[in-house]
Amino acid sequence: MSELNDLYRDVILDHNRQPRNFGEIENADRIIEGVNPLCGDRMTLYIKLDGDQIEDVRFKGTGCAISVASSSLMTERVKGSTVEDSLALFEKVHRMLTEAGTDEAELSVLGKLAALSGVREYPSRVKCASLAWHALKSALTATNEPVSTE
Ligand code: FES
Repeated sequence: MSELNDLYRDVILDHNRQPRNFGEIENADRIIEGVNPLCGDRMTLYIKLDGDQIEDVRFKGTGCAISVASSSLMTERVKGSTVEDSLALFEKVHRMLTEAGTDEAELSVLGKLAALSGVREYPSRVKCASLAWHALKSALTATNEPVSTE
């Protein structure tokens, strides 16, 4: 298990140091502001759609290593996916972050995203990890409402 924890930690560190898809999209179809009220950190999510497919997705903002890594991992995973698949992924990740008992099979479907599973033990870190995902859901359900993890 400690090898797995090392692997998870390496994924988080890598995505924090070199966030994928960091920046803005000039002609984005959806722009969502997200805030974690516990710390005041903010992120902005930009999505460019092509029909029901996420053609491009980027993010900007400041946050802790967990929130930056989670945003980076999220954008990497959903870029090129359909809206429907991305919303289904939101549900899986949300369950992993908030409910005990995600089994091996579920974690293997999540792949690299399983690196975020360790935050479940720390309620304040759950908000860090879930910020990007709530922003994604808001963007894709077209509410375009700013999101807060509170
Ligand atoms: Fe601010 Fe994690 S401490 S997002």
